[in-house]
Amino acid sequence: MSSVLTVRGGVPLSGRVKVRGAKNLVPKAMVAALLGNSASLLRNVPAIKDVDVVTSLLQLHGVRVDQDPVSGDLTLDPTGVTTASTALIETHAGDSRIPILLCGPLIHAIGEAFIPDLGGCRIGDRPIDYHLDVLRKFGAVVEKLDTGIRITAPHGLHGAKISLPYPSVGATEQVLLSATRAEGITELTGAATEPEIVDLIAVLQKMGALISVQTDRTIRIEGVPQLGGFVHRALSDRNEAASWASAALVTRGDIYVDGATQRDMMAFLNIFRKIGGGMDIEDDGIRFYHPGGPLSPLVLETAVHPGFMTDWQQPLVVALTQADGVSIVHETVYENRFGFTDALVRMGSNIQLHRECLGSIPCRFGQRNFQHSAVISGATPLRGAQIDVPDLRGGFSHLIAALAASGTSRVTGIDVIKRGYEHFIDKLEGLGADIDLHAERAR
Ligand code: EPU
Repeated sequence: MSSVLTVRGGVPLSGRVKVRGAKNLVPKAMVAALLGNSASLLRNVPAIKDVDVVTSLLQLHGVRVDQDPVSGDLTLDPTGVTTASTALIETHAGDSRIPILLCGPLIHAIGEAFIPDLGGCRIGDRPIDYHLDVLRKFGAVVEKLDTGIRITAPHGLHGAKISLPYPSVGATEQVLLSATRAEGITELTGAATEPEIVDLIAVLQKMGALISVQTDRTIRIEGVPQLGGFVHRALSDRNEAASWASAALVTRGDIYVDGATQRDMMAFLNIFRKIGGGMDIEDDGIRFYHPGGPLSPLVLETAVHPGFMTDWQQPLVVALTQADGVSIVHETVYENRFGFTDALVRMGSNIQLHRECLGSIPCRFGQRNFQHSAVISGATPLRGAQIDVPDLRGGFSHLIAALAASGTSRVTGIDVIKRGYEHFIDKLEGLGADIDLHAERAR
């Protein structure tokens, strides 16, 4: 049986949603707990798949994970950490990309790590070469197996000078999680500095780590022999917040996003304002609304922080289909993040993809065969369609297009959306969406 969501569009979404801890921080803070010699407490934990995957992987390694049934807070006790069965780890093949971050902490804890084949959204090749290069710099030995990779460190992990070819979020986290307990000093240049990374650094500092972040993308870590536990409230999910903001605009609605934080969303808020969206920024959240009248087209490039984040791009493109005139979006983080526009075109949008860089940010995809620039001509009315969700953000975009469209859409594959949007069906119903969820025998 598979879940099918029927969406009857045309109803402005209106009301209040709460966003909790960031999908791109919480599972990593859970991994960090492995580095401690006592239990940690993580607050503001959302009910999403990556949290379940990491919980299961930690439990397989003897970490005790207890969840408060009311608040969802997690207590993670690594004092019984031990080697896990490879066969059981393999059952998580394809579930998530987070397992690659277990390498450093597991080597520190038990001297080796086996990591299953990774999952995550299909938005490009998503290689792990930076991760493996980083681990080798620390002295790890990487062995590729048929079902994953085994990593050992015969002489322990040692601090190193590392320069990333691109400010990769995951590779920066790999360095942080490996270096804090490595012997000696690590200097990382070309680091990513996303707010989720700064929050992970805050977690590690609470545990006793010595980490300094310079303004030129350099992070310096003095290894310490042991770390303790932490008590931490995860920063809130700015990607989910931005998605609801776009949903308000696309459906001509009015949504208060409890937990949206201005400081972490400045680049998004500037673009939201330029396109013509209304917003009231408050201490605990932000109200996003369509103020009436036409929306304005714009030129936009995704980039690493502090630029306009790639995860904000897909929902915002749906809003741009409703702006009067031609918009240009240059995606510079992933080579293949416009696949979701096919369904938008079927729904009535006018979007052309181009291989050329339609922008000025230096981009790795320019002279290659990737359709990574989009030209969107609007405003075009959207009509309901049959949709199979391609990836997390693309899927949410399809959903908000369906909610704004005339007629009915039938959406399959919605479990992918649950990976990053906690209780999204309940939230949509709370906002007045006209939807039904039912199970159907798989075709
Ligand atoms: N890259 C490599 N080699 C590597 C690692 C990355 O070439 O070893 C490339 C990627 O292919 C990509 C670029 O570097 O073109 C950036 O990837 P990055 O490593 O920064 O991404 P990530 O750590 O895999 C996280 C988020 C993504 C988010 C990106 C960029 C998590 C679990 N995922 O991915 O979130 O888009 O950073 O900010 O933190 C999402 O939430 O929908 C999502 C995909």
